[in-house]
Amino acid sequence: MRSAKRPNDYVFLEQLGHGSYSSVFRAQERGNGARNFAIKVCSKKHIISEKKVKYVTIEKDTLNLVARERHPGVVRLFCTFHDAEKLYFVLEYVSGGELLGLIHKTGPLPELWAKHLMVQLVDTVGFLHKHGVIHRDLKPENVLLSQEGRVVITDFGAAYRVGQGTGEDESQRAASFVGTAEYVSPELLLHSRCGFASDVWALGCILYQLLQGVAPFRGDSELQTFEKIAALDYKWHVVAPVSPRDLVTTILVLNPAKRPGINRIKGHQWFSNVNWADKQAIWRGIWQ
Ligand code: ADE
Repeated sequence: MRSAKRPNDYVFLEQLGHGSYSSVFRAQERGNGARNFAIKVCSKKHIISEKKVKYVTIEKDTLNLVARERHPGVVRLFCTFHDAEKLYFVLEYVSGGELLGLIHKTGPLPELWAKHLMVQLVDTVGFLHKHGVIHRDLKPENVLLSQEGRVVITDFGAAYRVGQGTGEDESQRAASFVGTAEYVSPELLLHSRCGFASDVWALGCILYQLLQGVAPFRGDSELQTFEKIAALDYKWHVVAPVSPRDLVTTILVLNPAKRPGINRIKGHQWFSNVNWADKQAIWRGIWQ
């Protein structure tokens, strides 16, 4: 049996990002060439004091679960280890940065780019949902891009596995959940309920943002953003092609029961030329 890794087995390089209780660094394994990893480091003290133990466990279990059937759109977890103070997640390094960075750089994306990205996102979220995993914090910061234009969903720290009791009452868990205001679904906001349809809501927000350059619901304060979400108050600022615009309108409905599931989204007319069974075609970057 291979022994567990230790921090000293890696050279830690620049910081790639940080969350409320973790930081992510680029790292390379000592004596094993220049292969890059992204190591997420979580402070044990912080996790315990902030009562995040279950979240970290869920993140690890979820990534291990989906790793059994590898999917190119889910960040790979190679191993985990810990020392006295910290937990370490050794993840696939995705070198193209966050989708948010691309949107900030380019503004509204051409329809073909938006479609290429959405096809991958929809396929990946469909894979997660098939495995009973709700990501619960989908947003452009949690979507990474590889050099070839592959999208990779990361940060499963807020994920929920259907049928896996967390020991907590669901609404309590939802209430203590800190996502990003702009992508929060109306059912989470108004009823502290979060299901597969909440990920679909976030996909609708992301598609809108790809087409418009900004998120659909943005207030001057969090409260104002929440009010806009609850009132379905969003406008189109720049002209968007009819078909993806129709998909956004179909997804962004307040009642989660009326929102399409992933299979219905795959059948939308915007995707009529997509062969969802041809994984090769879906994952071939258009920028290669
Ligand atoms: N930032 C956060 N996670 C990352 C990853 N896996 N690769 C590159 N940058 C990241």
